[in-house]
Amino acid sequence: MTLTAPTDDCPYKTCDGSGIILVRDLEKGIEFGKFCACRDKLITNSKIQFADIPEEFRDLKIGSFKTSCYENDISRTRAAMAKKAATNFVKEFEIMRKHGKGLYMYGHTKGSGKTRLAVSIANALMNVHKVSAKFITTPNLLEEIKAAFRSDSEYSSSELINVMKRVPVLVLDDIGTEKPSDWVNETFYSILNDRMTGNKVTIFTSNCTIEELHHDDRIKNRIEKMAIPIWFPEESMRTKIAKQENEDLQMILFK
Ligand SMILES: Nc1ncnc2c1ncn2[C@@H]1O[C@H](COP(=O)(O)OP(=O)(O)OP(=O)(O)O)[C@@H](O)[C@H]1O
Ligand SMILES: [Mg+2]
Ligand SMILES: [Zn+2]
Repeated sequence: MTLTAPTDDCPYKTCDGSGIILVRDLEKGIEFGKFCACRDKLITNSKIQFADIPEEFRDLKIGSFKTSCYENDISRTRAAMAKKAATNFVKEFEIMRKHGKGLYMYGHTKGSGKTRLAVSIANALMNVHKVSAKFITTPNLLEEIKAAFRSDSEYSSSELINVMKRVPVLVLDDIGTEKPSDWVNETFYSILNDRMTGNKVTIFTSNCTIEELHHDDRIKNRIEKMAIPIWFPEESMRTKIAKQENEDLQMILFK
């Protein structure tokens, strides 16, 4: 006999939205909980919320990353390689995870699609492999480290920093050439070091090569160990999309 009263909060209308159905076995005289079919969805949704993926990229899939829209052959080849690597990264995630290997997506041109593809991988890992992922821009992470220092001298107690160390997949967006101050750098180092020794997967995006980063060598060494570099096209899809948008809207304005 089912004790849980189903409500509209459950997409299958078989539980009360909690993901658990309480059942009484009349013969044995015991009560127990069993999982509702909506539980998988609940878990994925809570993962997506936790991941903090920017709105613009929330539902994006690797499949919709275009490779034909870049102007020249080299760009199209590079985009196709990046897309293939992203697809295989998801497919072979267990191997990548075993080696604690992530990706370093870089290119000098802004708007080439680095964040889009990095986030699409995280989306796929959450949906397909049910792993937890987290997105943060590097400037935000460094700010967060500073804030943790200000509010509490015991910075290691910052929950966010602990999450950064432990989350199975971290998208560290926009790691740049600016070297943070010593104490921020120390915490940044300890996050990367913990991730490296714990075989955690980190996906970096950047506007420069690992070599061009101005961080300490010990940080750069760790990034080299933690990620396979993926070179992006030197073409801005952001500019291209903006141009197209403006042309379309001009048609409305000047018609
Ligand atoms: N290959 C692509 N197919 C479809 N849309 C794309 C592609 N590449 C980029 N875009 C779109 O172009 C815009 C810029 O992409 P994105 O933010 O990923 O660039 P980026 O390389 O991370 O730039 P930045 O260096 O400034 O951080 C986004 O709206 C993104 O969805
Ligand atoms: Mg970006
Ligand atoms: Zn349910």
